[in-house]
Amino acid sequence: MKLIEWNESLSVSVDSFDMEHKELIKMINEFNSSEKSKIDKIFEILDGLIHYSDFHFKNEERFMKQSNYKFYEEHKAQHERFISTINKLKKQYIEGRPFVYTKINRLLKTWLIEHIKKCDKKYAEHLIKTYKH
Ligand code: FEO
Repeated sequence: MKLIEWNESLSVSVDSFDMEHKELIKMINEFNSSEKSKIDKIFEILDGLIHYSDFHFKNEERFMKQSNYKFYEEHKAQHERFISTINKLKKQYIEGRPFVYTKINRLLKTWLIEHIKKCDKKYAEHLIKTYKH
């Protein structure tokens, strides 16, 4: 079962970022549907997710900085907190705390949806205004 389904309410109206969000959602769903017993596979997906999140965040940050977005630092800090939390949870998982799997799933779902709706949409509006003139 899919944990998250992309729909128009998640669109930031910037195609490249919508595509990257869709890719992140795909990876989150893959993590959610992976068999808990296949530890190597779980870590492979999680590492891919961390790596792709970092790539996506840097893309957004580049545009925010170039366009002098006033909430750039705040937004960047959110990205950094997410990466740091997910790495911390991954470490706990490696140390043998299986309940962390559920915690990771919950974080992936709630954080991404909220972040897109509350923060990404805000910078996207700014980008659209800035580059349409
Ligand atoms: Fe799409 Fe700010 O992450």
